Amino acid sequence: MNITIIGGGNLGTALALGLQESQIKALITVTRRNVERIQFLVEKGIAITAHNPGAIENADIIILALKPFQIAPVLQEIRTSTTGKIVLSLATGVSMAEMQALVADGTFLGRAMPNTAIERRESMTCMAHNPLFSDEQKDSLTKIFEALGEVIWIDEKLFDAATVLGACGIAYVMRFIRGMMQGGIQIGFDSQTALRIAAQTVKGAATILLEEDTHPEREIDKVTTPRGCTIAGLNEMEHQGFSSALIKGIQTSYQEIAAIKKDLA
Ligand SMILES: NC(=O)c1ccc[n+]([C@@H]2O[C@H](COP(=O)([O-])OP(=O)(O)OC[C@H]3O[C@@H](n4cnc5c(N)ncnc54)[C@H](OP(=O)(O)O)[C@@H]3O)[C@@H](O)[C@H]2O)c1
Repeated sequence: MNITIIGGGNLGTALALGLQESQIKALITVTRRNVERIQFLVEKGIAITAHNPGAIENADIIILALKPFQIAPVLQEIRTSTTGKIVLSLATGVSMAEMQALVADGTFLGRAMPNTAIERRESMTCMAHNPLFSDEQKDSLTKIFEALGEVIWIDEKLFDAATVLGACGIAYVMRFIRGMMQGGIQIGFDSQTALRIAAQTVKGAATILLEEDTHPEREIDKVTTPRGCTIAGLNEMEHQGFSSALIKGIQTSYQEIAAIKKDLA
């Protein structure tokens, strides 16, 4: 299988490295205009070029890891060669209907919204495809992204929501961990130890939720003894607006996507 990633930026390179380290057997090519900035990929066995039409010639799957405003010019550049190929966009806010107008007939369009944990093969990737997709094509994309984490196929209308919860979510969790570290340092740990304790605790909590049929509140009940220190701290966090701040932040990110789409139109 030949996979070409157009746009070797943060996400494009994370995806290429994750794929190269996975069990997926594929020839990977990454493109960007300033190709010297991705020279390091060559040592990992990944081909690089600045020439998009050449890079997609033999590709089975073309992945667009571009900023939303870069999607239209790149699709115009490659449109004559996309028939029969899967073109999967990772861009926020550009719909399959908008892309359809820019590609050749018979192009299999899809969207994927991974997060940067893709490089560690721990992404949460939400995906959608157009009606042309065969079960085989869907299976092959599922296999690729399952090698890089978890996959959920969703209705395209939920893509903005998936962007916020899954992709922006990485930043929210990082800020949560940083807050835990700041508290940990104040009560006596050096920053490296605080980071290790906070990050492993988040990983442990996530593992419980992903591997057991449970709910966050049930797990909280297990660690909150009456009049104990955990419930005292948790309640103080809620008095300070902890859950409310998160919900409002998620809503603000969601509304911002609408603003991005308006700028693009
Ligand atoms: N970062 C995330 O966590 C995340 C998660 C999910 C989805 N996304 C989406 O993924 C997309 C990419 O995000 P990013 O953070 O990776 O952006 P980025 O770092 O800016 O990467 C975009 C890359 O595209 C390259 N590029 C621009 N025009 C090109 C062209 N004509 N041909 C080939 N390459 C071209 C740019 O390099 P040159 O200027 O050198 O060409 C740049 O390296 C965005 O739409 C974003 O919404 C991001």
